[in-house]
Amino acid sequence: MKTIIEPFRIKSVDPIRMNDKDSRSFFLKAAHYNLFYLHSRDIIIDLLTDSGTGAMSSAQWSGIMLGDESYAGSTSFDKFEKTIKDIMGFEYVIPTHQGRAAENILFSLLCKEGDVVPSNSHFDTTRANIEAQGTEALDLLIDEGNDPKSTYPFKGNLDIAKLEDVINRIGVDKIPLIMLTITNNAGGGQPVSMENIKSVSEVAKANNIPFYIDACRFAENAYFIKKREEKYKKSSISSIVSEMFSYADGCTMSAKKDAIANIGGFLCTNSSDLAQEQKNLLILTEGFPTYGGLAGRDLEAIAVGMQEVLDEDYLEYRIKSTTYLGDKLAGLGIPILLPPGGHAIYIDCLSFLPHIPQSEFPGQALACELYLEAGIRSSEIGSVMFGKKDPETGKDLFSKMELVRLAVPRRTYTQSHIDYVVEAVANVWDRRESLNGYKIVKEPKALRHFTAHFKPVGK
Ligand code: F0G
Repeated sequence: MKTIIEPFRIKSVDPIRMNDKDSRSFFLKAAHYNLFYLHSRDIIIDLLTDSGTGAMSSAQWSGIMLGDESYAGSTSFDKFEKTIKDIMGFEYVIPTHQGRAAENILFSLLCKEGDVVPSNSHFDTTRANIEAQGTEALDLLIDEGNDPKSTYPFKGNLDIAKLEDVINRIGVDKIPLIMLTITNNAGGGQPVSMENIKSVSEVAKANNIPFYIDACRFAENAYFIKKREEKYKKSSISSIVSEMFSYADGCTMSAKKDAIANIGGFLCTNSSDLAQEQKNLLILTEGFPTYGGLAGRDLEAIAVGMQEVLDEDYLEYRIKSTTYLGDKLAGLGIPILLPPGGHAIYIDCLSFLPHIPQSEFPGQALACELYLEAGIRSSEIGSVMFGKKDPETGKDLFSKMELVRLAVPRRTYTQSHIDYVVEAVANVWDRRESLNGYKIVKEPKALRHFTAHFKPVGK
């Protein structure tokens, strides 16, 4: 059969409240044209993020009932720890309430002012947690990764020559760790090859630098390796996953992604000394090391989700359904980052709306229009998120790319929902010349995309 179906039946549903264009126009204005301020009840399809928004399975829901809520020594923790150790192979597993808490603990202990942490691309919370230590978060993505039209199969790879050059230039003493984000969210959900993971590990080992993986979408990455790296064609997903992590000294993880849970995260390491320090800090900030900011029931849901995500039928559906959205849009001539990523499709707004200058936020214009057209919430990943003022000249500095991300929650929407999204984007594409830009009328000092107020230009 050529048709790929969702490999699940639906047992429990959440109603979607339909609304019309006039009400959406009212809601958007009331939200100051910032989609973060919308009420979820006023959204028809929510593609803001794939984080914590997936549907749990019946096995995960039954795990919730088994949750052992003991403060210390919970059975749910034992299950959580064993599952993660079996899948990833690390010695120490430390639960946290989500990915960024694991990042905070890791970087607080390893980084100091003036250090540099190289990666393929740091995700924004990773970057912020590194910079909070006075450390530089350095992106060393291969050139293909920055070219929206390149169809290179592993656009998430880290440039090994650039890494060696940085190590030679600044010296190992200033590099407390090297990171790899798999898949590379900031670069379009693009995978990293096993060959690249291995090469990064070899460079790290040769220089005695710890190597950590930001593992949020590890199973999606493993599926890409199986499909695109000849040597792994016949390998099982779990053997690919176990090889990927065998090259690393530890990882940070947001369980809201590939553990298909609504909340949670963890930090792994092979160093007993570091694990002890991490646990001490955990007690201060998250909780006792057998729950780390989570309820026992969350630990159960994560343990089950970590196993379910390795199912090849699930992964095939997952990657093919994101690709389906990307292929449909690209087929209509709509400019997207190629090839389609694992968890999201990114629309290239500099090409979609060439008449809107970066100073008028083309990504924000498209994101607002998709909401007005069909009640779809997406996220701007461009100059609203990354733009800033030059501290010396006061001039506006814009983002390299102006993107709108359509992130697909796991097991949540069906093919007809996705067809609805395609139709909405196509309708906006057909009248793209009529779209106007936006201006910011109120903004906070940092992370402005979450809370800024906007107005359409000329209104
Ligand atoms: N690393 C990556 C690659 C991520 O994509 C995220 C979250 C985190 C770390 C942080 O994890 O949210 O559990 O604290 N990404 C979400 C997104 C928010 O929408 O892409 P967290």
